[in-house]
Amino acid sequence: APFVRAEEDTVAVTIEDGIAWVRFNRPEKRNCMSPKLNRQMLKVIEELEFREDVGVLVLSGEGEAWSAGMDLQEYFRETEAQGLWAIRKSQREAYRWWNRLRWYEKPTIAMVNGWCFGGGYGPLYACDIAVASENAQFGLSEINWGILPGGGASKVAADLMSLRKALYHAMMGENLTGRQAAEQGLVTEAVPHEDLKARVTQIAQTLLKKDANALRATKWAVRRMIDMTYEHAEDYLVRAQEALHSYGGVAARKEATRQFLDEKSYKPGLGTFDT
Ligand code: ACO
Repeated sequence: APFVRAEEDTVAVTIEDGIAWVRFNRPEKRNCMSPKLNRQMLKVIEELEFREDVGVLVLSGEGEAWSAGMDLQEYFRETEAQGLWAIRKSQREAYRWWNRLRWYEKPTIAMVNGWCFGGGYGPLYACDIAVASENAQFGLSEINWGILPGGGASKVAADLMSLRKALYHAMMGENLTGRQAAEQGLVTEAVPHEDLKARVTQIAQTLLKKDANALRATKWAVRRMIDMTYEHAEDYLVRAQEALHSYGGVAARKEATRQFLDEKSYKPGLGTFDT
């Protein structure tokens, strides 16, 4: 009989030194996203969001894949057989956790260890920083099986890549290597496969030293800017900084200024103040 994971087993988590390592855990199915996995991911990320021992969330995949996109059997074929209500329910379950991740309270890093297709672009975009293995393969394979890149994937390509690259990527159904994905803006950077975990750990450790409230306000601000005019942005940023004050922002800034101007213990241009 084919191996089927219980819902709870579709996602693996390890918490270590402030970093929550969350993994798509259906390696035998190349970590494609089933309704069970989507429901479990929402549960897991919501549980981790306010834990004191978690400062950064890393999303990666068990085995050879990051995620081979939506599960063509369980997400498409089985829900379509049940009718529109089941299709809409499974779409909402997927979109819900990607949305939660886009507006996550804590910084997020996609550690793209292998295959990343179609629906995988949703969680990829949701993560603030994306580091790919040079061996990873990225594809909008939808066109190869007769659909359009839905579930936000067309928007992800249009937002992150130039229009020319996005159109070619979506229309041709050819894969990009991790290095090409970095050159074209889909991910932040690509590193040799053997260095992937060390590089992600290094980024996470840097983020862990920053002021957590300022970091949250910063990532939300940058994401909000995408859809704003300059006038709206300028005003939003004044208000967001003032809102930060209610999380101790004034004290933090005074202390950071003191360490630079009076104590001369650090330079903001070269590193972070001691929080
Ligand atoms: N949906 C359902 N099952 C999948 C998916 C998927 N997206 N991806 C892989 N699997 C299953 C395979 O059917 C196979 O199942 P089986 O062992 O029961 O036969 C198992 O995972 C292993 O897959 P293989 O194809 O044997 O693995 P291989 O390493 O040779 O190839 C690859 C990996 C290239 C990722 C291939 O599995 C593939 O092309 N998957 C589909 C990728 C894709 O186009 N995803 C959809 C994007 S569009 C969207 O998400 C809306």
